[in-house]
Amino acid sequence: MTVLLKFIVALSLYTNLEFTAVQVNNIEYVPLSFVKRNVADSITTKSFQILDNKCNVCHAKRNRRRLFTLENMNSWADDVYKQVFVKKRMPKGKKIKLTSEEYQNLLNWITSTKK
Ligand code: HEC
Repeated sequence: MTVLLKFIVALSLYTNLEFTAVQVNNIEYVPLSFVKRNVADSITTKSFQILDNKCNVCHAKRNRRRLFTLENMNSWADDVYKQVFVKKRMPKGKKIKLTSEEYQNLLNWITSTKK
């Protein structure tokens, strides 16, 4: 329990969000909606970092109409899925590769946009 609470507090600091915990009999309860929202937020944030490091670096020079931001990335989730997982055209070229962890993260993010 304590480990979970520490994790949630760390997560809230990390995502810079505030939340209201409920206290019952000296035990703090964090609303599940908050936990879910923040887990989703951190998946999106992580995926944005991947899109920024591994995709925007090139798109900034060669495909400026596809610059990923935290605001537009969810609306492009289907396109990312198609190019990265189905056609495997992206990341283009041989220099930039995604690690298996990065693939997994992008997939988690794409799935999270479907709910
Ligand atoms: C080395 C350069 C380079 C890298 C790295 C790169 N791209 Fe691209 N990307 C391009 C170029 C150039 C185009 C436009 C021409 C084309 O589609 O091949 C493009 C097009 C796209 C498109 C639109 C394709 C379409 O036909 O609708 C998507 C979506 C995309 N990239 C996603 C990504 C993602 C996601 C990553 C990172 C995981 C990535 N790209 C990494 C160069 C790159």
